[in-house]
Amino acid sequence: MHRLSLVLALLATASCSAHADTPFKTVDLGYASYQSNVNLVQGVTSFLGVRYAAPPVGKFRFAAPQTPFPVRGVQNATKAPLQCFQAGIFGTQGASLTSPFRSRSLEKRDTDGISNEDCLFLNVHVPNTPSQRSPLPVIVYIHGGGYDAGNGTYYPAQDFVKESNYSVISINVQYRLGLFGFLGGQAVKNNGSLNAGMLDQQFALKWVQTYISKFGGDPTKVSIWGESAGAGSIILHSVAYGGNVDPPLFRAGLANSPFLPFVYNYSDPITESLYSQVVSKANCTNPTDTLSCLREVNAIALAAAEVSIDSANFLGLFTFVPVIDGDFLVERPTVTLQRGKLNSKAVLISTNTHEGTIFTPQQVVASSNITLEQYVSGLFPRLDQDHVQTAIRLYQEQDLPTVPERAAAIMGDSIFICPGYYTLKAFGDRAWKARYAIPPALHGDDLSYEFSTYAVPPAFNNTAFITGWQQAFLNMVHSLDPNAKTEITIVPEWPKYSNNNTEMLFNHTDASGVHADSSFKVVDLGYATYQTNVNLIEGVISFLGVRYAAPPVGKFRFAAPRTPAPVPGVQNATKPALQCFQNNIFGTQGASLSSPFRSRSLGKRDTDGISDEDCLFLNVHVPSKPSQRGPLPVIVYIHGGGYDAGNGTFFTAQDFVKESKGSIISVNFQYRLGLFGTLVAKKARHGSCGYTGQTWGARDIRGCAGYRRDMQGTMGMRGERQGRAGHDGNVQSTTKVYDAREMARMRPARRGCGGDDDDAPGAIGIRRGRWDAQGMARMCRARQRCVGRDNDVRGMPGMRGGCQGCAGAEEMCRGW
Ligand SMILES: *[C@@H]1O[C@H](CO)[C@@H](O)[C@H](O)[C@H]1NC(C)=O
Ligand SMILES: *[C@@H]1O[C@H](CO)[C@@H](O)[C@H](O)[C@H]1NC(C)=O
Ligand SMILES: *[C@@H]1O[C@H](CO)[C@@H](O)[C@H](O)[C@H]1NC(C)=O
Ligand SMILES: *[C@@H]1O[C@H](CO)[C@@H](O)[C@H](O)[C@H]1NC(C)=O
Ligand SMILES: *[C@@H]1O[C@H](CO)[C@@H](O)[C@H](O)[C@H]1NC(C)=O
Ligand SMILES: *[C@@H]1O[C@H](CO)[C@@H](O)[C@H](O)[C@H]1NC(C)=O
Ligand SMILES: *[C@@H]1O[C@H](CO)[C@@H](O)[C@H](O)[C@H]1NC(C)=O
Ligand SMILES: *[C@@H]1O[C@H](CO)[C@@H](O)[C@H](O)[C@H]1NC(C)=O
Ligand SMILES: *[C@@H]1O[C@H](CO)[C@@H](O)[C@H](O)[C@H]1NC(C)=O
Ligand SMILES: *[C@@H]1O[C@H](CO)[C@@H](O)[C@H](O)[C@H]1NC(C)=O
Ligand SMILES: *[C@@H]1O[C@H](CO)[C@@H](O)[C@H](O)[C@H]1NC(C)=O
Ligand SMILES: *[C@@H]1O[C@H](CO)[C@@H](O)[C@H](O)[C@H]1NC(C)=O
Repeated sequence: MHRLSLVLALLATASCSAHADTPFKTVDLGYASYQSNVNLVQGVTSFLGVRYAAPPVGKFRFAAPQTPFPVRGVQNATKAPLQCFQAGIFGTQGASLTSPFRSRSLEKRDTDGISNEDCLFLNVHVPNTPSQRSPLPVIVYIHGGGYDAGNGTYYPAQDFVKESNYSVISINVQYRLGLFGFLGGQAVKNNGSLNAGMLDQQFALKWVQTYISKFGGDPTKVSIWGESAGAGSIILHSVAYGGNVDPPLFRAGLANSPFLPFVYNYSDPITESLYSQVVSKANCTNPTDTLSCLREVNAIALAAAEVSIDSANFLGLFTFVPVIDGDFLVERPTVTLQRGKLNSKAVLISTNTHEGTIFTPQQVVASSNITLEQYVSGLFPRLDQDHVQTAIRLYQEQDLPTVPERAAAIMGDSIFICPGYYTLKAFGDRAWKARYAIPPALHGDDLSYEFSTYAVPPAFNNTAFITGWQQAFLNMVHSLDPNAKTEITIVPEWPKYSNNNTEMLFNHTDASGVHADSSFKVVDLGYATYQTNVNLIEGVISFLGVRYAAPPVGKFRFAAPRTPAPVPGVQNATKPALQCFQNNIFGTQGASLSSPFRSRSLGKRDTDGISDEDCLFLNVHVPSKPSQRGPLPVIVYIHGGGYDAGNGTFFTAQDFVKESKGSIISVNFQYRLGLFGTLVAKKARHGSCGYTGQTWGARDIRGCAGYRRDMQGTMGMRGERQGRAGHDGNVQSTTKVYDAREMARMRPARRGCGGDDDDAPGAIGIRRGRWDAQGMARMCRARQRCVGRDNDVRGMPGMRGGCQGCAGAEEMCRGW
């Protein structure tokens, strides 16, 4: 949202590019028929603005959603619905009536043309030509925005259909926001419905159960997916009704940066105080039935009243959020998580490295001179002094020198990162965890990777990376396992979180030119030992200038290549060998001693600094993390240049290793050129009878076949390559393409790698690693320090696995 102006500009473009396909598709839902011919992305028909609940207005304001009334005739589902009333995402940071996020006229009652109290609509995105037989798995996307902002159109869930190769149906759902969806208090409990916004979401999930088959969807294969408050909603649905929802409404949860603010009881003094403030701002203090009065108030005025209440809240906090209602939420979600009774089969959770930063604007925090103690106390108003001090101690670390940085870490850990861990733990061996770490890795940055057409383009626009990220989530949708690939990706075997708290780290590695790997790799060939730390490209280790034949000089000029003499010690294979003497590639076109291509002094014997008669070397390129068990297939690249020019370095055979995603080894080598290799050979061996290809140069080529063993692969040329080498000296190398079945076979092999910090094959930067909650989320450390029991900091919102372990914690909880 910090890039809102860009976002708005792009959205304008995006809606213009929506184009109508010729045929209308029509779906009869019984209570209404909808038709659409809108394709927001290629190959996907979007039904926009399908009503799933009656207008939640008048007496239904602050009430549970109701079944929509039947409507006659065919409705056009071709225009995005208006959004629910909302405050800006930065509700507490200067949102005001003049905020650019809301420019509503105070005249109208239920709508201002941008927002509408009648907002309970969803968008359904269906493949025009499904790539697999119906019924298709279904994704229900729940948008984020702090339970206070956002809409169903801004998050292009239609992308999922295309990203899945047209094998899923996706849905965006809108739900009531801010005080319309999350007004708490005893009065709402008595005469209305608490957590109305959550009930809206749940109502939509029930709608999916009833109607999605009409669109070709499979109601038994529903996944719910969301980011931020949308991801928090995934957690809440997982624990709803104490985990006793039966029949289930979905089977998998996909949660990016789950937002779990502290969940107060509906009648908590804090919640009641918010209710009173709303009553007061709405001029409803006199009536005895304040709730009925609130239902009479113009929606626009009510939304405006919320802004000032939100702004008065503590920095970065959202004000109207879910509460314990004794029904949908029977207790704090973290408590239900600990019981392990859940409404879902599996979960994939991601968090970003710096979740808290945008909610703790560093400049604002710095210039306010707030102390960390004041910050923690403000963020968690119920925390007692002891625990404020505990929290402060936990964040006094070298890598977080300033108060703003510490505040950001506390915000991020307690409200986004730790809730993810609690959820993972609750799901046991049905849970996987990703960490999104591409700098700046702020909250929301990952959205550009989930959605191919998100308004903000990805910072790291790398197809392999983006595909890897997206497919992991889609694999969950299909098979409840991110490893069940339907498409080849660079993501290695992804261990469960329960496997030693393993997470997958998604980052990009330094791809700028040649750089040294931290460690040398050493290979002993018997006659010589070579070492290298060179990465010409990411994820590939190159041994440069490995000698494969003795110097073809002196009496060995014009002679067959010979086995190299052994050399003691470790040789550096970190620099390419000089090339063989050569003519320029346009050999017949005026090459001369003064040619710019060769400026050799004729005084020297075997080298001119560019070329060297002692040139029978090769480069071996090995994946730093092979994607399959060795021995690997080998590509030997034989450079071209009319047998007269070229070298082993110019043709970047290391590319093949990367292009194959780490599943092959490649070699490029040099052979004698021009008169050193070919012409004389003709004369000497075959006279003028013609060229047969049996040149010395070709023998040099064969020479390399002598070394059958190599670093990790089976070096040596393949029959067909040898054959073709005889023709023109150029082998058209092709990288191996795996189909999904082959991939599946490869996977078990990789299990042997053990969950350490392996770089992904291709090293785009996906790592498996063991990260424990302590290392990751400092706040979580408190859980261990709390008398060694599995408890977290008392009073830390969203962080408690139960209060039993910590002295005095029970009281703290009761106090809440
Ligand atoms: C739906 O759109 C079509 C094409 O624009 C139009 O002909 C039709 O009248 C519309 N139907 C309704 C109910 O608005
Ligand atoms: C959805 O939200 C975006 C971002 O706030 C806004 O620009 C857009 O107008 C909204 N769209 C609809 C259809 O409400
Ligand atoms: C997508 O599905 C089609 C079958 O409809 C198949 O031919 C194609 O290979 C698939 N593409 C990918 C990338 O899996
Ligand atoms: C509930 O609504 C009824 C009828 O409007 C009203 O008489 C009663 O006072 C309300 N109860 C509360 C607790 O607001
Ligand atoms: C409440 O009353 C004040 C003063 O009459 C007025 O300015 C304000 O708009 C009213 N608020 C609402 C929500 O009607
Ligand atoms: C919430 O408050 C109500 C009324 O004060 C109380 O009966 C209930 O036990 C509380 N729930 C929890 C989980 O504390
Ligand atoms: C913060 O401290 C600086 C330096 O002492 C002072 O100039 C500034 O006014 C203070 N800001 C606030 C908001 O107190
Ligand atoms: C991600 O990579 C960047 C460099 O590209 C590095 O600065 C950052 O620390 C990495 N993040 C993690 C969590 O490893
Ligand atoms: C990202 O890369 C793709 C493929 O290389 C390209 O088509 C697209 O325009 C790029 N997007 C941006 C925002 O640079
Ligand atoms: C966790 O790590 C330990 C020590 O590395 C290892 O012995 C154990 O097998 C691992 N557990 C699992 C489930 O992989
Ligand atoms: C190889 O390179 C390393 C690092 O640059 C250097 O310390 C070592 O002396 C070199 N060894 C040889 C045999 O040149
Ligand atoms: C390889 O050939 C290219 C193109 O002629 C030349 O620029 C380069 O210097 C040569 N490199 C080596 C290491 O011989």
